[in-house]
Amino acid sequence: MEQARLLDAARKAMAFSHSPYSKFKVGAAVLTGTRKIYTGCNVESSSFGLSLCAERVAIFKAVSEGEKVVKAIAIVCSQPERCTPCGACLNVIREFGPDAEVITEGANGAVKARSVKELLPEFFSL
Ligand code: THU
Repeated sequence: MEQARLLDAARKAMAFSHSPYSKFKVGAAVLTGTRKIYTGCNVESSSFGLSLCAERVAIFKAVSEGEKVVKAIAIVCSQPERCTPCGACLNVIREFGPDAEVITEGANGAVKARSVKELLPEFFSL
């Protein structure tokens, strides 16, 4: 099942989370238009504002390898409750995946899937 594969990839990516400041681990896995999976984790910097969320790391890895379409993205985090992507990440998800499905899972195992349009009905674009 595609959702299970994506969540599994996101969990594996979360193990690489570099989050010494927040201690908040996040992992993400993107399914692209060509059905490849790209993963990412949050990467923090001692200059805090330079840190990057797991979702954008995964999407930018995909785009930097020529993948321009996000079909689905799974996000897992180390806290018990599911974590919904931040507004900045939702904007990027919607830019590359207008019809993307956003799947979230907390450490308690609860899973929820919603469309990016439901999570971000309007977004910034040029
Ligand atoms: N974080 C993500 O990776 N994704 C989000 O959607 C929100 C927050 C990260 C950034 C930072 O490393 C840590 O979670 C705490 O904010």
